[in-house]
Amino acid sequence: MNERGRFITFEGIDGAGKSTHIGFVGDFLAARGKTTVSSREPGGTALGEKLRDLLLHEKMHLDTEALLMFASRREHMAQVIEPALASGAWVLSDRFSDASFAYQSGGRGMDRARIEALENWVHPHLQPDLTLLFDVPLEVARERLDATRDLDKFEREQEEFFARCRAEYLRRAAQFPHRFAVIDSTQSIAATRQKISEALESLL
Ligand code: TYD
Repeated sequence: MNERGRFITFEGIDGAGKSTHIGFVGDFLAARGKTTVSSREPGGTALGEKLRDLLLHEKMHLDTEALLMFASRREHMAQVIEPALASGAWVLSDRFSDASFAYQSGGRGMDRARIEALENWVHPHLQPDLTLLFDVPLEVARERLDATRDLDKFEREQEEFFARCRAEYLRRAAQFPHRFAVIDSTQSIAATRQKISEALESLL
């Protein structure tokens, strides 16, 4: 039987630049003989992508938003994450439950215990082996967002919202230092890649 794969998640506030680096991590691991599966949340499955469309564009109650995030995650776990890890593949997920803590709890103010309850329901025995948290000051994130494209529901939020999301991400990184690598994402792409490589080496 194959050795179980590893689970790597990519997190950060909108505009932190995490998406730029997922391809690099895939190439880095492939060069070391690993099979990788790249995915994202909300989304990652046909149903999850429909939920993503609703989540990113419709107004809804905060409870509904949190529940749909975890509904998408449940499907993602069942259809993608668990089978891939069991087959020995390394799963690279653009966001996972830390984003629910950062956005629904930190950003929107939901009681953290509710997110914990959903987390215990949906993935009681699974946490990422490594979470790359791309961290940038708010001004930098905002500049990057404004430069890129049409903004979705979350991206149109005000600076204070992102300040709370960022603070919650950093609080979680401090709470779970064994799995978090905080990457200063204001550095050059080459310097950022160097830091990512060091974090990956520790898993190999
Ligand atoms: P994002 O990952 O930034 O994708 P893109 O780079 O294509 O814009 O978009 C997903 C949005 O969903 C992001 O603003 C954060 C939000 N989100 C939550 O609020 N809670 C969650 O649990 C997850 C997974 C995402």
